[in-house]
Amino acid sequence: MIAAPGTEPTTAASGAGRTEPILAVDGLRKTFGRGRKEAVAVDGISFELHEGGSLGIVGESGSGKTTTARMLIGLEQPTAGRILVDGSDLTRPARRIKDLRARGRLIQIVFQDPYTSLDRRQKVGDCLGEVVRLHFGLSGSALNGRVRELGELVGLQERQLRALPRELSGGQRQRVAIARALAAEPKILILDEAVSALDVSIQAQILNLLADIREQRGVSYVFISHDLAVIRQITDTAIVMRHGQVVEQGQTANVLDSPQDPYTRLLRDSVPHAGWQPGTVK
Ligand SMILES: Nc1ncnc2c1ncn2[C@@H]1O[C@H](COP(=O)(O)OP(=O)(O)OP(=O)(O)O)[C@@H](O)[C@H]1O
Ligand SMILES: [Mg+2]
Repeated sequence: MIAAPGTEPTTAASGAGRTEPILAVDGLRKTFGRGRKEAVAVDGISFELHEGGSLGIVGESGSGKTTTARMLIGLEQPTAGRILVDGSDLTRPARRIKDLRARGRLIQIVFQDPYTSLDRRQKVGDCLGEVVRLHFGLSGSALNGRVRELGELVGLQERQLRALPRELSGGQRQRVAIARALAAEPKILILDEAVSALDVSIQAQILNLLADIREQRGVSYVFISHDLAVIRQITDTAIVMRHGQVVEQGQTANVLDSPQDPYTRLLRDSVPHAGWQPGTVK
């Protein structure tokens, strides 16, 4: 089980004693509309993520996954509840530029379709440079060096850094989106269906890349996907959402192999996938 607030976390390094979670979400809620038109998108969810950990969020379409992600990065104001990142209270979206930047250095997101969020007229390297300059005030050769380093980190060559987004493949563009998110050196990276639009072989490359980056940089992931095989590969704990609520949570293998909740069983059995074999334990 993922530790509830006030209990012992099972994902903490053994013997190292208690560690504070890098992300603690408590009673998070979001409603849209008012009165009779009020719709509850996220209905009081709580979970924790430990430093260097990877938490999966699964659930059917409309269960509140993206709304949760949007609250975490401050694109949406929670109706109730609390978001703590590395001890800072990020429940309210930042209003001042200074606070926005500080939030950006804690938590970043990669969405499914990077094309819509990349500036079509800006070369990839310039796009990365802009983020580095904004957060770290680098310029000249130090800036260029950092941009090349980011390119290397995600497997983009110099030639691709000089290209426009439309000159790149979908997989390369997603590498750009990951590099841009990492340019701020956040503690947490949220990936919302970030590999869902990619071919299976490209998907595998990006998943391996993400695993390497987590190991190298110690960045923590919140990984949202409807693909249980992907969740199994890239996360160590998982929560299952349904109608805005958490219906199950725990170690990913336990959640997927022996789901306690009837809904999780349904979800698992209704998603046939080449990577899924009943009873396999990772
Ligand atoms: N801005 C909004 N205004 C009104 N309702 C919204 C808004 N954003 C989301 N919702 C509603 O909140 C619910 C949860 O949506 P959300 O996008 O979080 O689901 P999801 O789990 O990410 O689904 P999917 O797997 O399809 O991406 C849905 O019923 C959706 O219609
Ligand atoms: Mg979504």
